[in-house]
Amino acid sequence: DDPRIHGIKSKIRVVPNFPKPDIMFQDITTLLLDPEAFKDTIDLFVERYRGKNISVVAGIEARGFIFGPPIALAIGAKFVPLRKPKKLPGDVIREEYVLEYGRDCLEMHLGAVKPGERALVVDDLIATGGTLCAAMNLLERAEAEVVECACVIELPDLKGRERLKGKPLYVLVESH
Ligand code: PRP
Ligand code: MG
Repeated sequence: DDPRIHGIKSKIRVVPNFPKPDIMFQDITTLLLDPEAFKDTIDLFVERYRGKNISVVAGIEARGFIFGPPIALAIGAKFVPLRKPKKLPGDVIREEYVLEYGRDCLEMHLGAVKPGERALVVDDLIATGGTLCAAMNLLERAEAEVVECACVIELPDLKGRERLKGKPLYVLVESH
């Protein structure tokens, strides 16, 4: 592994029983407090995606809005926010997905992505994979090509990777 990974992992705070009993919350705010570890995080993604002809970075609300934009700027791609319902003012396409308790939904502005564009999907964490799957569906409905999904953290025990329809997933840190 890249020597920077250990430093990144050490800055992610794990908070037991938040927001509910038996959840080990992966808190990236402590990573953001460390400029070197935050920069290493962005740099690792930029080194991987620079020169790959990616024209769209799609970031998932809320924490994909932290990591996506600096990656987009560094690789010369546009940033497209994938938002929770009723936040975007223009015409949208919408994907619903199932959560552990209840349902949620992501929306993307119509026309933000053009057919044939090469897209990277960014979020902080993959758990069950439902959120990333909905995000990929939005991009595919806009006829973009999803090159890869990128997250800082994976919870591999939840097998979210298996829901990504064979699309590659790149993560920096695994947490068990
Ligand atoms: C968390 C996390 C991912 C998602 C992963 O977001 O930031 O977006 O869950 O879960 P999944 O792989 O099981 O779908 P959350 O929905 O809690 O919202 P937030 O980012 O707006 O806080
Ligand atoms: Mg989220």
